[in-house]
Amino acid sequence: MNTVLVGAQWGDEGKGKVIDFLTEEADVVVRFQGGSNAGHTVVVGDKKYVLHLVPSGVLHNGKHCVIGNGVVMDPFDLMRELEQVESWGFGLKDRFHISERAQMVMQWHRELDRAEEAARPEGAKIGTTGRGIGPAYAAKVGRYGMRVGDILKPGFADLVRAQVESANIKLKSLGAHEMDPEEMVKLYMPMVPSLMPYVTDTVQFMHESLEAGKSVLFEGAQATMLDIDFGTYPFVTSSNPTAGGACTGSGVSPRSIDRVIGVIKLYTTRVGEGPFPTELKDADGEQLRVRGGEFGATTGRPRRCGWFDAVVGRYAQRVNGVDFWAMTKLDVLDTFPVVKICTGYRRKDGFVYSTFPADLDALAGCEPVYEEMPGWMCDTSSTTKFDDLPANAKKYIARILELIGGKLGVLSVGPKRETTLRINI
Ligand code: GDP
Ligand code: IMO
Ligand code: MG
Repeated sequence: MNTVLVGAQWGDEGKGKVIDFLTEEADVVVRFQGGSNAGHTVVVGDKKYVLHLVPSGVLHNGKHCVIGNGVVMDPFDLMRELEQVESWGFGLKDRFHISERAQMVMQWHRELDRAEEAARPEGAKIGTTGRGIGPAYAAKVGRYGMRVGDILKPGFADLVRAQVESANIKLKSLGAHEMDPEEMVKLYMPMVPSLMPYVTDTVQFMHESLEAGKSVLFEGAQATMLDIDFGTYPFVTSSNPTAGGACTGSGVSPRSIDRVIGVIKLYTTRVGEGPFPTELKDADGEQLRVRGGEFGATTGRPRRCGWFDAVVGRYAQRVNGVDFWAMTKLDVLDTFPVVKICTGYRRKDGFVYSTFPADLDALAGCEPVYEEMPGWMCDTSSTTKFDDLPANAKKYIARILELIGGKLGVLSVGPKRETTLRINI
């Protein structure tokens, strides 16, 4: 069984937790896009683990973890994370693999990320994580990027020098600090021996695994509404976190995918700039933020919070072909006497959008159309069986499923590993 897992909203849906849960029955977990902009949290007992680049399956010894070709990888972030993972007691030898086709995120990409963001006028800022993601993908698509395999070549130092010189032209034009090519060579050369053992042809590895009947889990980072094609462009990330990205980012054919699981929070959050139709700037939004611990796992920024948006859910179901949903954070809604579901966006002239418009200008001045339902006003965080949930919580979930399509596969009622209910999968 090969499963693609994707985020359905604006990220931070609880993908790390669900990946950790599904890794039990997988042999290989592969990241196929994004980079250290991701922050995936797994809570086991009293210990909280946050992963950025390394697949969340790493917390299960013996499972293979792959950084696929679609990822952009900052070698310093990676080395730091690998040391951390080993210090937590999880061995990596012979089970961690990095694609030689993956792109490198270098110091100058981070500088460019910061300088480009600073140069954007108010209202046009994206609120990036500052991890160099946009400039690294721009280099890839512009065909002047640096691939992981390049670090193994004798000409690596010269490549670094050339890249720094060309980045300096852009940095200068943005009024940012230029970088010293020799300093960069000195910074990166010593890191090569520690990375080398992990670098391999992961396309070959993936195919050997599939041919041997192994089960693969594709770990999406970011989410549908941050997708470079389907998200709220330009307030998006620079990759394809949607299900199609799993194939292009790992070298596996769509024919090998058996099912798609969408992770969706039972309310909505967003971190960074950009449209968010159901955002709450009142006490309810604050309550969601506090109860849900809605602070970025990568940047620590407070996340914007709002009601569940079924327009987004339906759109994500279609774009990804979601078979099963992993619905998360039901427990966060336990104290609300009324819960709301957005079913459309009403324009000033009365027209209601029931699918997410491509043109963000169309959203300006729109009001969300809400259905209200009674809350359940009791603790769901210790529920172990779906049938034991309060009737109103079941009705809320049932109505959402009716609106967005797909089946319920997993329900999460708390941050810990054990607070995960398996429903239909
Ligand atoms: P990801 O980026 O999709 O992996 O999600 P994050 O880890 O950035 O954010 C999800 C946050 O919610 C983390 O702090 C998780 O520990 C937490 N979490 C996940 N599922 C649940 C849940 O069902 N209930 C509660 N209360 N917290 C959860
Ligand atoms: P996970 O995998 C939430 C957001 C940033 C910014 C935009 C572009 O934990 O769900 P970037 O640094 O990628 O160029 O920033 O995307 N963003 C995320 N928001 N969760 C994430 O990852 C995100 N990764 C990027 O806040 O708005
Ligand atoms: Mg996150």
